[in-house]
Amino acid sequence: MHEGEGLEVRLATADDAEDIAGLIRAQYGDGYADPTYVDPAALREKLAGGDVRYAVARVDGVLAGQMAVERCSRHLWEFARALVRPAARNHGVLLALDGHLLERALRPDRAARFFFARSVTHHVVSQRHGRRVGARALGLLLGHWPASAIEGAAGDAPVSALVTGRALVPMRRRRLAVAGRVRARCEAVLDDLGVGVSPETLKAGLPLGVAWQAAPALGLVHARLGRAPGALATLSDDLARAREGARLAWVDVPSEHPRAAAVVDSLERVGFSFGAYLPFGGLAGEDVVRLQRLDGPPPGPTSMTLLDDHLPLRDAVLADAALARTEQACA
Ligand SMILES: CC(C)(COP(=O)(O)OP(=O)(O)OC[C@H]1O[C@@H](n2cnc3c(N)ncnc32)[C@H](O)[C@@H]1OP(=O)(O)O)[C@@H](O)C(=O)NCCC(=O)NCCS
Repeated sequence: MHEGEGLEVRLATADDAEDIAGLIRAQYGDGYADPTYVDPAALREKLAGGDVRYAVARVDGVLAGQMAVERCSRHLWEFARALVRPAARNHGVLLALDGHLLERALRPDRAARFFFARSVTHHVVSQRHGRRVGARALGLLLGHWPASAIEGAAGDAPVSALVTGRALVPMRRRRLAVAGRVRARCEAVLDDLGVGVSPETLKAGLPLGVAWQAAPALGLVHARLGRAPGALATLSDDLARAREGARLAWVDVPSEHPRAAAVVDSLERVGFSFGAYLPFGGLAGEDVVRLQRLDGPPPGPTSMTLLDDHLPLRDAVLADAALARTEQACA
């Protein structure tokens, strides 16, 4: 189905908040894990602020689907919140929403340099879509969503997220400052994106601080290192405290920062391993490598449904996670 053939796509305004929340409630009920998705007042505020831009699709006048781009840093945007009414699926609504957001929400934004998306790993519809729009694999976030937040998830096991993305502008070579396994994963991502790795490294960087974010509904605590006022000196202790009640932790480390290798090394010793490489994902728009640590039983390879292209990434991420657990146990 194309625009014009009964399909109308446009960018949402704050006045669409009620309808957008209504579609999510219709599909997931009121208990959706992220309240900002289903609370019309919170959604209205986000839409008015401009850092969340939704496209809505109507088929013969009825809301058929919606999708958003959300600002993660000055240069990085995430395609997220995709939902198409079951009756309207498999007619190209997602493709139309995605194309509209790219052309109307991102291209006019001169600061936008990269977009990414997190795809569930219990079906391949969005993974195939990512491939169709030229996105490459950036990582695999293990056990990211509780099953209750995901349509069609089988059983209670949390659902992982494949991270894929694409540049909107040409990217310069990266001066990777990380080493070992994490470096190998970052190099593989950059190679796939067609971005070179410079033999040079930076000799100096701004002092690293830490900004904390928590998503209790996801059982997630997230530390972002970079230009932030929080002191980094006791990261491991602070993480241990912050993680009380959380089952999942992420730490984003600026990958060109002269201290990156030392920080990654200290995190690997407490069980962290590679999750994803996010171009422009840092607090000041610098590239970061996201390290992850998931408590509880690790997901097995067969618990994820992935396109063949992503199987080497899956195996590498699972092997790294297993090694990090072993090293932590032996420390
Ligand atoms: C994932 C989701 C958003 C896809 O929406 P959609 O509008 O059905 O997506 P599209 O129609 O663009 O593409 C789906 C399939 O239909 C095919 N298709 C597109 N236009 C078509 C047409 N006119 N006729 C037949 N098939 C068509 C696409 O090629 C694609 O097939 P493929 O997966 O084999 O490559 C929808 O299934 C959904 O809301 N799922 C629940 C929420 C969810 O899983 N969100 C994603 C989390 S990552």
